[in-house]
Amino acid sequence: MQEQAWGGFGVYLHWPYCESKCPYCDFNSHVGQSIEPDAWISAFEAEISRYATQSDERIVETIYFGGGTPSLMPAKIVAGAIDAIRKAWRTVNDIEITLEANPGSVDASRFADYRAAGVNRISLGVQALDDRSLKQLGRRHSVYDALKALEIAQNTFDRVSFDLIYARQDQSLEDWQKELSRALSLAGDHLSLYQLTVEDGTAFAERAARGGLRGLPDEDLSAEMYELTQELCCAAGLPAYEVSNHSRKGSESRHNMIYWRGGEYIGIGPGAHGRVSLKGQRYATEAIRNPSEWLDAVARLSSGEKKREALQSDEIALEYLLMSLRTTEGMNLKRYEAISGRSVSPAKLDDLSVLGLLQQENGYLSATPKGRLVLNAILRDISDD
Ligand SMILES: C[S@@+](CC[C@H](N)C(=O)[O-])C[C@H]1O[C@@H](n2cnc3c(N)ncnc32)[C@H](O)[C@@H]1O
Ligand code: SF4
Repeated sequence: MQEQAWGGFGVYLHWPYCESKCPYCDFNSHVGQSIEPDAWISAFEAEISRYATQSDERIVETIYFGGGTPSLMPAKIVAGAIDAIRKAWRTVNDIEITLEANPGSVDASRFADYRAAGVNRISLGVQALDDRSLKQLGRRHSVYDALKALEIAQNTFDRVSFDLIYARQDQSLEDWQKELSRALSLAGDHLSLYQLTVEDGTAFAERAARGGLRGLPDEDLSAEMYELTQELCCAAGLPAYEVSNHSRKGSESRHNMIYWRGGEYIGIGPGAHGRVSLKGQRYATEAIRNPSEWLDAVARLSSGEKKREALQSDEIALEYLLMSLRTTEGMNLKRYEAISGRSVSPAKLDDLSVLGLLQQENGYLSATPKGRLVLNAILRDISDD
């Protein structure tokens, strides 16, 4: 039997539809199509079985329905995909199955059906606890809707996380302090807290280029907001375990940890990415982005894959470095050496350690709290070697 992948093994499924397009979002999401549930079930089943036939023997530890808005999925598609995965691979007893939900599309019966299908963790896109900000972010839900959805989720599932976006237009440090304190009083075991990023190609980027996106915090205020976030979350018992993710010990998203530990994941559905070893060679896979083209390709050509690239050891090592240094756990130095055949430049490590930006403990290299503030610069520095 093949040894289980380092970092774990999971399956990501992408649901590409949303009720509307949020102006800051650059995810693969599409609005206003009617769907045929049976065609989607067949396509997910076919892709799952294709990968299972090709992949070395593996044990699935996590399944993640991401989007788009997976809480718009008819529950029978969710159930069909989970059943197909259970038939295709062995699964661990305590498998984690997460589904991303939008407050506007949550209703109690649908959640009960997701739970019956096997989902055991919800990640809810609350985004803001302030109605004006929700409007600015182009969200269709209100704070009232978000709280209602959170209550339904918490009554249905043991594990519920929610997302907030901060460093928004016209948000002061004090506003964020109040909002985050309220969020922490509502939170279960996990919170994702993202700084607003103006992504290329989005409506926000266009607005910013025209000088229209006013009131965004400058670098100093953003850094203060980040530091305040770390402080309040630590005090509430939900320290960061990754740049934007906070949890009680043991309640980390196991699926996302697979990405950050350089593990393996199959990516299924329009635009999904995967990292998977097939007959000992690690590949980066990417599916066709357009939903109808993906469905069509799976039905007619028996594959929704657009690209499959064999990764060289230096590329695998670099990805591992870039992903793992996002976590507080950090990078396993022996594993990095085993993949790349060399160690990270000792001179660079010394320089960054003397500056108080990196630290080494028990064979792991990680960013210090000071280093996390300039993580992108550190990553550029040590990867450019
Ligand atoms: C796959 S997305 C969307 C999930 C779900 N459809 C929703 O909108 O609630 C996951 C999370 O990424 C965050 N996000 C997306 N775009 C962002 C951006 N430009 N800046 C900061 N956070 C962003 C949001 O918090 C969002 O909940
Ligand atoms: S609902 Fe989520 S995935 Fe859909 S457009 Fe908005 S942010 Fe993007």
